Amino acid sequence: MCAVATVDPGLRARHDALVRDVQAHAYRYYVLDDPTVSDAEYDALYRELVALEQAHPELVHPGSPTQRVGDQPRGDLVKYERPARMFSLDNAYSADDLRAFDERVRRGLREGERFAYVAEPKLDGASIEIVYEVAGSRATLTMVSTRGDGKVGELVTENVRTIKSLPLVLELAPEIGEKVDRLTLRGEVVIHRKDLDAINADREKNGEEPFANPRNAAAGSLRMLDPRVVARRPLRVSLYQLVEGPKLHGTHAESLEWIATVGLPTHRRQVICASIDDVLSAIGDFDRARGGYPFETDGVVVKIDEYRQQSILGETAKFPRWAIAYKFAAERVVTEVRGVQVQVGRTGALTPVADLSPVLLAGTTVSRASLHNFDRVTSFDVRVGDFVEIEKAGEIIPQVIRVLHDRRPECTTPTPVPTECPECGTQVVRAGEEVALRCPNRRCPAVVRAALHYYSRRFAMDIDHLGPSLIDQLVQSKLVSDVADLYDLTVEQLVELERMAKKSASNVVAQITGSKQRPFDRLLTALGIPQIGQVAARQLAEEIPSLEALLELGAEGAARAAGSIHGFGPAMVDAIRAWIADDDNRAVLEKLRARGVSVPYQRARVSLEGPLVGKSFCVTGVLSRKREEVHEDIRAAGGEVHDAVKSGTTYLVAGEKVGQTKLDAARKKGVQVIDENGLMAMLGKPPVGQTSLV
Ligand code: IVH
Repeated sequence: MCAVATVDPGLRARHDALVRDVQAHAYRYYVLDDPTVSDAEYDALYRELVALEQAHPELVHPGSPTQRVGDQPRGDLVKYERPARMFSLDNAYSADDLRAFDERVRRGLREGERFAYVAEPKLDGASIEIVYEVAGSRATLTMVSTRGDGKVGELVTENVRTIKSLPLVLELAPEIGEKVDRLTLRGEVVIHRKDLDAINADREKNGEEPFANPRNAAAGSLRMLDPRVVARRPLRVSLYQLVEGPKLHGTHAESLEWIATVGLPTHRRQVICASIDDVLSAIGDFDRARGGYPFETDGVVVKIDEYRQQSILGETAKFPRWAIAYKFAAERVVTEVRGVQVQVGRTGALTPVADLSPVLLAGTTVSRASLHNFDRVTSFDVRVGDFVEIEKAGEIIPQVIRVLHDRRPECTTPTPVPTECPECGTQVVRAGEEVALRCPNRRCPAVVRAALHYYSRRFAMDIDHLGPSLIDQLVQSKLVSDVADLYDLTVEQLVELERMAKKSASNVVAQITGSKQRPFDRLLTALGIPQIGQVAARQLAEEIPSLEALLELGAEGAARAAGSIHGFGPAMVDAIRAWIADDDNRAVLEKLRARGVSVPYQRARVSLEGPLVGKSFCVTGVLSRKREEVHEDIRAAGGEVHDAVKSGTTYLVAGEKVGQTKLDAARKKGVQVIDENGLMAMLGKPPVGQTSLV
């Protein structure tokens, strides 16, 4: 049977426009080498096309840019549960920490047993795991995943395949090919410092925020959806660990040598050390040399060389006992304070930020540093004109560490502590024991802007295209004064704004309208109730599943419901009560309800009877219905739903255009692959009709 799909002409027109635009931009980008939009804008259009095609597979046709060979339309990256956890490393910050590590190693081995360390640069990028399948003497790159939480990562195979320094096939010596059927390696995707400067210059030209460091740039690029965009990024791979493969002679150093000889990229800077004193002197050498490395390093990884000894030492719940990461002391530099700005956040908190003479710190140019709060400004006595020492210790935002009072020029004046909000002039307050000064005005433009930004974030209502400059214009033009106003925006209003073409305006409105479908727990997160993050919001939605239920319960009822949740302390309950009791907040909730925002939260329903009891399913690819609906059917029939293919998964339900990597993962784990009709048969339902592809 061949059902002829009817398609909404509006959707068809949007699809046609997206196909045309993506194609045109791709042509300028790849052929003319003269893009007119930024990578992020291109990726956003591509994402919209993928999402539209996933929701309406009947729109897909062979001319769509998503149908190129090797392109998998993906709403998001596919999750991958790896057989062995990818551990991270315990940190050492001093010679004492390293000697203590050495002591632990000695206690773990036989008394007096000899052992060696390998010291090597700690690369500052995004970690990945790479798998080559071996057949005969040939090894083929088949799967690359990010670290994720260690156990479950994301598949980024197509993106990493674009990295030119990584061979897609390797020729192994025949005697090795015979012994192993798979190579698993770990390493880092990095961006060289000079390449980052070039990317950032481009981004600034396009009005985009520059990447704060090579690590962010590498991690961000790795997770882009269109591999062709990734192909343009100057990414490199450097491998530092052989996890599965020929354990030649049984040591890590020899494996690193072997990795290099088969043509795989590795740092080639390992040093074998006979004692912890040798390690300390190698660390000194690395520290002196690292400024000249093309890549960023933030430390030295110290590993036991012999695999046999590594396995004797084993792992704790979090880290291997046979390795440690020594972190170089955070770099500090001195620079001049040109001004002190005050930022007003979502909760109205005032944060002082120092404007600095730009200086190079840990590989990036820094021109601002946080001063945290006005107590610190007063106790440091930071003044405009002062010289201050700043530090970047792992986190991205540099901190002011101290003021060099002896270098203070004449005629400086103490930095005033604001009594009024710099945005709206309202008198600031200090609540109880709090350090922060706050602007109590709920309509303060700065507070509204920050609330809108938070509301639209990915983990909240996930509204793409609502960037800082648009939010700024919306608030300034008074089109929006709370999050509910977003839903009243029209294309006609938006095109009046600066730099807003009709197409972008309809995109924005479509994105905002789309967010009405987010389940209630996401709305609860997005509202930014103090103390209520994503996890608490989900727990709260289990008790209060909809906006209607929340409004009906009111402040006291909601506080009572919250009080019954395991792990909700009095501070959280009070925060919920106070937030809902506030008239302004309740007015926003009423407005959201009137505009039809949020669908009720659906508790994962598990049935204890039905044809699928004891079976588990992972659903992937394009199906005739929404994936959530299929999940619901499986659960209602007693089955379990897995996000990723795990070793315990019974079936992979593969829709159309399923990714090869997912099929491979299933095959390797012995998971049976069925199609949508296979599932329908198990559910005792009639088969679905085929949809026409053109
Ligand atoms: S070995 C089980 N070697 O640092 C040991 N890791 O802070 C696996 N890293 O998650 C790690 N350079 O992403 C190792 N030469 C190196 C490294 C390195 C960077 C990363 C890695 C790890 C993190 C731990």
